Amino acid sequence: MIGSIGAAAAAICVVLCTVAFQVGAGAAEVKFKYEIKEFQVPLDHFSFLSNATFNIRYLYNDSFVDKKNAHTPIFFYTGNEGDIELFAQNTGFMWELAEKQRALLIFAEHRYYGKSLPFGASTFNASMPDHLAYFTVEQTLEDYAMLITFLRNDLPLPVVAFGGSYGGMLAAWFRMKYPHLVAGALAASAPILQFPGITDCDIFYRIVTSVFQNAYNSNCTTNIGRSWKTFETLGGTEAGKKQISDAFNLCHPIKNDADLKNFLDYIEEVYGNLAMVNYPYNSSFLAPLPPYPVRQVCFYLKDLHQSDADLLHAMASALAVYTNYTGSVKCLDTSVNSNADDSGWNVQTCNQMVMPFCSNSTDSMFRPSSWNFKEFSDKCYKDYRLTPKPYDIILRYGGRNIETATNIIFSNGLLDPWSGGGVLQAPNNKVDIIILPEGAHHLDLRNSNPADPPSVRDARNKEASIIARWIHEF
Ligand SMILES: *[C@@H]1O[C@H](CO)[C@@H](O)[C@H](O)[C@H]1NC(C)=O
Ligand SMILES: *[C@@H]1O[C@H](CO)[C@@H](O)[C@H](O)[C@H]1NC(C)=O
Ligand SMILES: *[C@@H]1O[C@H](CO)[C@@H](O)[C@H](O)[C@H]1NC(C)=O
Ligand SMILES: *[C@@H]1O[C@H](CO)[C@@H](O)[C@H](O)[C@H]1NC(C)=O
Ligand SMILES: *[C@@H]1O[C@H](CO)[C@@H](O)[C@H](O)[C@H]1NC(C)=O
Ligand SMILES: *[C@@H]1O[C@H](CO)[C@@H](O)[C@H](O)[C@H]1NC(C)=O
Ligand SMILES: *[C@@H]1O[C@H](CO)[C@@H](O)[C@H](O)[C@H]1NC(C)=O
Repeated sequence: MIGSIGAAAAAICVVLCTVAFQVGAGAAEVKFKYEIKEFQVPLDHFSFLSNATFNIRYLYNDSFVDKKNAHTPIFFYTGNEGDIELFAQNTGFMWELAEKQRALLIFAEHRYYGKSLPFGASTFNASMPDHLAYFTVEQTLEDYAMLITFLRNDLPLPVVAFGGSYGGMLAAWFRMKYPHLVAGALAASAPILQFPGITDCDIFYRIVTSVFQNAYNSNCTTNIGRSWKTFETLGGTEAGKKQISDAFNLCHPIKNDADLKNFLDYIEEVYGNLAMVNYPYNSSFLAPLPPYPVRQVCFYLKDLHQSDADLLHAMASALAVYTNYTGSVKCLDTSVNSNADDSGWNVQTCNQMVMPFCSNSTDSMFRPSSWNFKEFSDKCYKDYRLTPKPYDIILRYGGRNIETATNIIFSNGLLDPWSGGGVLQAPNNKVDIIILPEGAHHLDLRNSNPADPPSVRDARNKEASIIARWIHEF
């Protein structure tokens, strides 16, 4: 291994990675319609000295609302790490349920993402590290609390929080901290336990490996496991570097060890993303993809390859399922730090969202790696002048001690690598756990689709009836 795996692994983002944005964002199909509004929030909710404010965006659709109903439900998506429009387009379940419940739909954009930047174009300017000081979960939840209070306008309207992934974590924490503002929360694929000391750091890669192992045949993970050595061997010579760059049509050919490391980190992230969006139908959330993309990738790796050259070409065909499904990608750009959203999540991993990743199980298809907090923390300081607090989230939200939580649904697909950090056992009978054995990353939040496995349909029906009960009891 070259350099620090700790830092590389922590760069895995809960939903949207650089990898995703390079190939995915532009391709998202627009389906749902809404008004885009802005809401003024204090820059710092926790200071009585500063009056500074900025605007966050939110999406608004009241077409389903029954104007005669004095108790109109509000469905509130607690926005996560990305442009809020992407989440609105990929959370079809909320739209389907809003029609039934005649709810007002709101999708709130997380501060520091999309167009909700407190310092405009200089928000992430490295020469102004103090601009990152207001980028916390707590400030964000306060934004949402103020927005909900404004939307309710003193009326007794039941609010239900929805979120997927990091957005699901926010939805769950919102209900825990502001039970007077939301009647309940649907936290889909929310890894609130993916924090130091309470979940094994190798769980994520273990699940990804098992998804690939079961996708086509066992040669898939054997090939991938061997490929790291192949890449290292080839990467050791000038001719080999060129061979890799040509096979993958890299925009920026590999020139040195640092380039090779970036390339390997990139494909490692692609495997994680593939497992996350291994949906039963074609989709374009993280990237335009065929149905069950992991199966497709493993189809190209179904034969065991002995020579480095053969394996290299099989790997290139396999990864193109993710990087070039449309066939319209001219060259593969694996460079990082390309947009604000990626910058955003990396900053959050450097203050509160410290999620350890490692790979040490013997049958893993990933490179062996350990979690090294010191290295990670040093890099955070170097990049952002931030010192991460690894136990901050556990201190504030309880870690595994969530017995006092009520009216939260935690749903998890067992094929989702994030389910390893999810809540799979109910802490009490006021919290519902919904398991989707064949589910990938928050599949239940998506539009219903004829290809949905029965467990997903069951999950949505259950979620709908629990949410209806919260609204009724409110
Ligand atoms: C709200 O959504 C409905 C249903 O998708 C759509 O018909 C309507 O045009 C949307 N309203 C706005 C203001 O975009
Ligand atoms: C905050 O607002 C108050 C009242 O409008 C004003 O008197 C005060 O100077 C402001 N403080 C700052 C730091 O801008
Ligand atoms: C960052 O801020 C500095 C100081 O104001 C400025 O000179 C520089 O151009 C900015 N960098 C970017 C990338 O905007
Ligand atoms: C899925 O495939 C169908 C038919 O090939 C196509 O019309 C549709 O646009 C695709 N959807 C996505 C999200 O790529
Ligand atoms: C793996 O590939 C070899 C050919 O290289 C093939 O003979 C074997 O059947 C494959 N293994 C499985 C489990 O399909
Ligand atoms: C993507 O696919 C097209 C069509 O097969 C091909 O011409 C192009 O080189 C591919 N791009 C990459 C990056 O491999
Ligand atoms: C991998 O490392 C983690 C954390 O250091 C540890 O909890 C786990 O038992 C290790 N697993 C194996 C198979 O060594």
